[in-house]
Amino acid sequence: MRSATDDRPRRSIRSFVRRTGRLTPSQERALAELWPVYGVDFSAALLAFPTLFAADAPVVLEIGFGNGDTLVQQAAEYPAMNFVGIEVHEPGVGHCLLRAHDAGIANLKLIMHDAIEVLSEQVPEDSLQRVNIYFPDPWPKKRHHKRRLIQAPFLEMIHSRLAPGGTLHIATDWANYAEHIDAVLADSSLFTCAERREHGGDRPLDRPRTKFERRGLRKGHRIFDWRLLATAHND
Ligand SMILES: C[S@@+](CC[C@H](N)C(=O)[O-])C[C@H]1O[C@@H](n2cnc3c(N)ncnc32)[C@H](O)[C@@H]1O
Repeated sequence: MRSATDDRPRRSIRSFVRRTGRLTPSQERALAELWPVYGVDFSAALLAFPTLFAADAPVVLEIGFGNGDTLVQQAAEYPAMNFVGIEVHEPGVGHCLLRAHDAGIANLKLIMHDAIEVLSEQVPEDSLQRVNIYFPDPWPKKRHHKRRLIQAPFLEMIHSRLAPGGTLHIATDWANYAEHIDAVLADSSLFTCAERREHGGDRPLDRPRTKFERRGLRKGHRIFDWRLLATAHND
């Protein structure tokens, strides 16, 4: 997008700030040696999931996987599914590469780029079985709420990339973000809510506990989980 007064592209609002976390030597080595195995570079060309993986299978996408422990755990647990993880934090990607390699995972690919651009440029329509967004950055200050990932246009994008009958799973430990998510969902006809739970971390849904969930629980936060079904695309 360009502003009315000059020709410079206007910066879009990002849901993350690139942190300059230092890579450990093993993460650095993993990025050099294991990226060619698990990594998919960002480009404006659509991916072909059936040929990207060793076997054609339903694809589960995790957005903002953090250190990737949960993602690797799920890929190991469901070898008949293919997993794609998107994360911008380089040390997290390095950590995930090491875990995936140690666990001998073959059904996982990682993309290190803004998920909004990856979804819009690289992920084909109707191509995903499930999308997981676990503990997205809460951006608690009111002036930062516009940076929150869960917004109506983002849900529209996810809906278009989900195959018919696909599901979107969201979890947060921030009560104010939960209210915001409820409001965005209430205004949308793209998803029906199959399940919404507020709980104390007793793992009621089909997902592993994440690092940020444990952190929230230590602070005494409640956990909110949504399992949402995509409505048919022509509804
Ligand atoms: C609060 S952490 C949660 C990490 C992990 N899901 C967990 O529950 O432990 C949110 C993560 O989302 C990532 N993130 C935020 N916006 C993103 C975007 N637009 N694209 C990719 N990753 C993003 C951040 O870098 C961060 O690692």
